[in-house]
Amino acid sequence: MSQTVTITNTEASISYDINLPYISVSNETSGGTKYPEYLPTWDKIWFDPLPPFDYEDPALRVKDKAKPNLLTPGVKISHIQPHLGSIVEGVQLSQLSDVAKDELALLVAERKVVAFPDQDLIDMGPGRQQEFMKHFGKPNYQPVSGTVRGYPGFHIIHRDGNKEEINQFLEQKTTTTLWHQDVSYEIQPPGYVMLGLLQGPEVGGDTVFAATDAAYKRLSPAFRSFLDNLKVVHSSQKMIAHARMRGGLVRKDPVDTVHPLVRVHPVTGEKCLFLNGEFITKIQGLKEPETRVILDFLLQHIITGHDFQARVKWGPRTIVMFDNRSTLHSAIVDYIDEEHGAKPRHIFRLCAMAEKPIPVSKE
Ligand code: SIN
Repeated sequence: MSQTVTITNTEASISYDINLPYISVSNETSGGTKYPEYLPTWDKIWFDPLPPFDYEDPALRVKDKAKPNLLTPGVKISHIQPHLGSIVEGVQLSQLSDVAKDELALLVAERKVVAFPDQDLIDMGPGRQQEFMKHFGKPNYQPVSGTVRGYPGFHIIHRDGNKEEINQFLEQKTTTTLWHQDVSYEIQPPGYVMLGLLQGPEVGGDTVFAATDAAYKRLSPAFRSFLDNLKVVHSSQKMIAHARMRGGLVRKDPVDTVHPLVRVHPVTGEKCLFLNGEFITKIQGLKEPETRVILDFLLQHIITGHDFQARVKWGPRTIVMFDNRSTLHSAIVDYIDEEHGAKPRHIFRLCAMAEKPIPVSKE
């Protein structure tokens, strides 16, 4: 006898990114925040689609690959993994010249993820932070997530409590991780991305990154050439529908964009898997089960590839710059207290929109 299973609205509505709130902070316990100015707001603003723009990667302007303006004497650089992820001490991002910012872009393109502990830029306010990121590309305006009042380029990640929501989420899901690239549904998605820690748990709340060029290289030549010219649809429809279902504000129409599944990095020249556990809906030319099998395989390849991953631990006032074109990442929501829900974790994200992804062959 067949059995009908009813999915309730509550079950359906909790299935998205646990790292983010989609509704007003008044429903959260935000009393303990250290940076109230950065609490997420959902003011009614509407954004039209981002028009096409010319983009020159700042890393391509660097003349001396040793980066003498950024890595000055006394600066210490240590690596998290041999090929991915670095920690730079002795640099204040707020003090960098434009030439040093170009060198920073090159360092991020090379190392993919770079953490800068104890940055005074964290305390200089949203205007200075936004200005800093303009050097790396055009600002992005998020369709649904909370932002800083007056600075809609900020995407605010804020968790503090939310016990019930987290429990509901974990009733349906086995993990809080969600491997993705930021905003990949846009025609010119982000290249360089800044994450700034305002407040975080003493232990936990790390962010994990995987290198998509290394992941590509691990595949067999036959499989690589099959993937090389595939095109996929990235869509923000599901995220926007989810926000609506949760009673959240929507600021932008959904965007569906066809992108190459393998993209060429403009600075390193490496081929990178352009993948997303969140936004891809279809591989063009393949049937639905074929799409599923390929995407599931590639995502599992990323998730299990610990030898091309780096986990960033957040310290006070840490700023992380990462390359969104050659990495996937996931927040790790492990800072949950059984009794009270999530401990405070408060991060801002600024994306710099970059080039239209470069396909392997331009026919
Ligand atoms: C993100 O997924 O863009 C933010 C990562 C984090 O919260 O650690």
